[in-house]
Amino acid sequence: MKAVVYTRYGPPDVLRLTDVAKPTPKDDEVLVKVQAVSLNASDWEMLRGKPLYSRIAGPFRPRHHILGSDVAGRVEAAGRGTTLFQPGDDVFADILSQMGGFAEYVCVPERALGRMPAGMTYEQAATLPQAGAIALQGIQDKGQVQLGQKVLINGAGGGSGMFAIQLAKLRGAEVTGVDNGEKLEFMHSLGADHVIDHTREDFTKSGHAYDLILDVAAHRSVFAYQRSLAPGGRYLYVGGSVATLFQVLLIGPLIGRSADKTIRLLAVRLGVRHLAPLVELREAGKLVTVIDRRYRLSEVPEALRYLGEGHAKGKVVVIVES
Ligand SMILES: NC(=O)c1ccc[n+]([C@@H]2O[C@H](COP(=O)([O-])OP(=O)(O)OC[C@H]3O[C@@H](n4cnc5c(N)ncnc54)[C@H](OP(=O)(O)O)[C@@H]3O)[C@@H](O)[C@H]2O)c1
Repeated sequence: MKAVVYTRYGPPDVLRLTDVAKPTPKDDEVLVKVQAVSLNASDWEMLRGKPLYSRIAGPFRPRHHILGSDVAGRVEAAGRGTTLFQPGDDVFADILSQMGGFAEYVCVPERALGRMPAGMTYEQAATLPQAGAIALQGIQDKGQVQLGQKVLINGAGGGSGMFAIQLAKLRGAEVTGVDNGEKLEFMHSLGADHVIDHTREDFTKSGHAYDLILDVAAHRSVFAYQRSLAPGGRYLYVGGSVATLFQVLLIGPLIGRSADKTIRLLAVRLGVRHLAPLVELREAGKLVTVIDRRYRLSEVPEALRYLGEGHAKGKVVVIVES
């Protein structure tokens, strides 16, 4: 089968479209013919090996040689011990812990798969898993956003930000989206009440205070975040610099508690089984998915460059041609 492979960390040029052996499902796995894969910042981070947390599985060289985690496709074969899926079923999954989506086929443990929601196309389904889980848990489960609260989403013009803005607005929050200047109009179009260009303005110095800061691009000090929280407010680190992550883990609980604020890591529970509320909102027409660009499998390097250089508004999807 064709797959986009890399064997060392680096720029998109280290990726090669090549022929590799078609995988065979283990007893608990299902072989999926991939139809669409959406890109996430985690693909870019694991390609570059930066930030350092992206090297957890392979400190010096990538352990998984095929990137791509948010897949949608059709079951081609099911392992002997599987019971839930049959050949021909349309499925989607987040396979962040194993990767392998930038390929014609991938084997996925049955427990990680979900049936594709009725009426959804492969490319729409592929946009949901990781970005949807971050947004749902960041705004609803852990963010606990309430009517009238002030919510700031840092990195709001990307994949998870796109869903997070809409979820926060559906809960009746006043939403501020922060991203680069190219994405201000996009964030407004999703419902953000206020937008900030992070290259021109530091939101932690504006004097405004927020009930929730959901941060997918964290790189400031925890003290700056603490100052930007309203009393009782919470700051959730999703992704960003390792220095900020350590501060959040080590100092966050202390300075947060002393000021009646919460500063913590959002450890996202990945898996499409958690996405039901998001799927329902989509089906009810209350939530939109914006696919900025589509690429072919052979164009994965260009697709990742587009995302990594910060141009993508919403999601970028790779369509795997039959
Ligand atoms: N905590 C967990 O359990 C967990 C699980 C899965 C993934 N993650 C992490 O979650 C993050 C994924 O976010 P995503 O997929 O939504 O990424 P994304 O689509 O790339 O969006 C991130 C956005 O942040 C913007 N940005 C970059 N630097 C910024 C800054 N200094 N200030 C404001 N905005 C900035 C980016 O635009 P520009 O680059 O153009 O500025 C981009 O629009 C990744 O870091 C990933 O590792 C965490």
